[in-house]
Amino acid sequence: MTQQQVYPVNETFKKRALIDRAQYDAMYAESIRDPDAFWGKHGKRLDWMKPYTKVKNTTYDYDNLSIKWYEDGELNAAANCLDRHLEKRGDKTALIFEGDEPSVSRHVSYRELHEEVSKFANVLKSLGVNKGDVVTIYMPMIVETAVAMLACARIGAIHSVVFGGFSPEALGARIENGKSRFVITADEGVRGGRKIPLKANVDKSLEGSNVPAVDSVVVVTRTHADIDWKDGRDVRYEELMKDASSDCPPEPMNAEDPLFMLYTSGSTGTPKGVLHTTGGYLVYTSMTHEYVFDYQENDVYWCTADFGWITGHSYILYGPLVNGATTVIFEGVPNYPDASRFGQVVDKHRINVLYTAPTAVRALMAQGDDCMAGTTRDSLHILGTVGEPINPEAWEWYHRVIGNSNCPIVDTWWQTETGGILITPLPGATDLKPGSATLPFFGIQPAVVDSDGNVLEGKTEGNLVILDSWPGQMRTIFGDHERFKQTYFSTYKGTYFTGDGVRRDEDGYYWITGRVDDVLNVSGHRLGTAEVESALVSHDKVAEAAVVGYPHEIKGQGIYVYVTLVGGAEPTEELRQELVQTVRQEIGPLASPDVIQWAPGLPKTRSGKIMRRILRKIAANEHDQLGDTSTLADPGVVDELIEHRAFQ
Ligand code: PRX
Repeated sequence: MTQQQVYPVNETFKKRALIDRAQYDAMYAESIRDPDAFWGKHGKRLDWMKPYTKVKNTTYDYDNLSIKWYEDGELNAAANCLDRHLEKRGDKTALIFEGDEPSVSRHVSYRELHEEVSKFANVLKSLGVNKGDVVTIYMPMIVETAVAMLACARIGAIHSVVFGGFSPEALGARIENGKSRFVITADEGVRGGRKIPLKANVDKSLEGSNVPAVDSVVVVTRTHADIDWKDGRDVRYEELMKDASSDCPPEPMNAEDPLFMLYTSGSTGTPKGVLHTTGGYLVYTSMTHEYVFDYQENDVYWCTADFGWITGHSYILYGPLVNGATTVIFEGVPNYPDASRFGQVVDKHRINVLYTAPTAVRALMAQGDDCMAGTTRDSLHILGTVGEPINPEAWEWYHRVIGNSNCPIVDTWWQTETGGILITPLPGATDLKPGSATLPFFGIQPAVVDSDGNVLEGKTEGNLVILDSWPGQMRTIFGDHERFKQTYFSTYKGTYFTGDGVRRDEDGYYWITGRVDDVLNVSGHRLGTAEVESALVSHDKVAEAAVVGYPHEIKGQGIYVYVTLVGGAEPTEELRQELVQTVRQEIGPLASPDVIQWAPGLPKTRSGKIMRRILRKIAANEHDQLGDTSTLADPGVVDELIEHRAFQ
């Protein structure tokens, strides 16, 4: 019912908007008709050290797969984020740091940030970091994290940010895969009043025998905690910065040189290092940031993501800074000290754009409308969501309560792999339907295919693919180009396969229905079922485990685990707790199972393949819709699982 509701473009907003519907239609048509001309023109939004003469050189043809944008141009990402703003915006606030404690905040101007980044770039050089080296960043949400990322970019090192909520094991695996010899961390992080032992986690992560020798661990002082120190390896950020020179010319980088890698989960195997390059990524993220958030010079913009995810890279750091924006770095969480925090922060910094995740909206909604009491939020003019489908009820609540019924909501669909937003409303152009990401951004050609890869027309439902390349697209999986081709370009030949299901309605609006592969989306965090399973079977009492997602009111998806124990092991409450701990240890708290069901057997085909479709239905309490079970080796297993279904 609510899904039918349409919110026409907000009339007040229309007056200031950069793009109206007619302009969107014209620009979109142009971007598809002549991508070279379109992106050639918009590539000029960056400062190039050597201008490009070529724009698009891409093919999705499997055997000749190649993705290159602006391939003969040279530029530097940090110079585009900082140096070029110094003249006009030197004293403008680049970063607003809002600490975990509401009493703590600080403004950093473009000039100050430029100086800090240049100094730290010199520090990195003095530690032996060279162009092309991978630097792992395992940090809280503080200013120094932005400094570290930009300092890497300045000297052409590839940053690999690992979310601070990952365990030492998960961090070690990423350091190892990236062959990274440098780690930047903090003594501790602070979130929601709780301390996170980041440096201790780094120490543990480096104990693993497979982890390469790490030359340096740079430690930023955040809490002054007492930490272990390894002389010759560990160095203090503050000490190194004291004498560092702030003269560090930005390294000229080819447009196709790597800017960063970021690990994300797939349906199988270990997390993959998604590699993004410099030119196309910056064009695409800055352009989407401008148009999707209707960014104009004096807007104060707040994206609540973490630097550990792609949203933090593209829409806290690179997109906004390329545009010379004021962007907020928030160290805390939405409900600390209480559930009005988002409103408090918005009022304190007079924030105009708030970009957050549906899970945060749902968590606040569960507190009731009163949770925003005492705040006005009257500076807001756009709201955004990202990371998972937003249910219409949460959309309506976000619109009515947080946005005072006065702000367009941009529901932005994209992925770590896409670098930037692909399907989204433009706030001055697109009528909104709660729950729909609406229409493609410039240059994006989505298509819906059936399971055989036939392109479906009109109102329909199926798998979401993208027919042609855009500048922000990932270029490879670090160290495994074959896996890149296989994962994204082999399922539906000639297209980029997103892994998402989608519905397209009569107005051509896209409604993302969620992953169609074995990837989970828990509170907007992406996890592979295979990863969680492999953590579980590492416990010596577990013979087999199967993990599926189930609908969860706040998290979107919860983690439901079926565990078969080895003969003789007792299914006790104590063991259940141990298994939860094992997963937290192997991956991190974000992967904690919500439900564990003891399963004497798992439903398998005669060839031994676990039928997850059935496990998903049982977990979702939809066992009246199991579908065809005739191919099961032992159908009795299913009745047993239904009978003993775990209570959620
Ligand atoms: O399933 C889609 C979901 O998040 C997946 C990508 O996750 P990740 O790479 O971690 O990036 C998240 C931030 C960009 C997608 O395959 N997703 C993301 N945004 C939306 C979404 N699902 C529905 N609506 C969205 N707006």
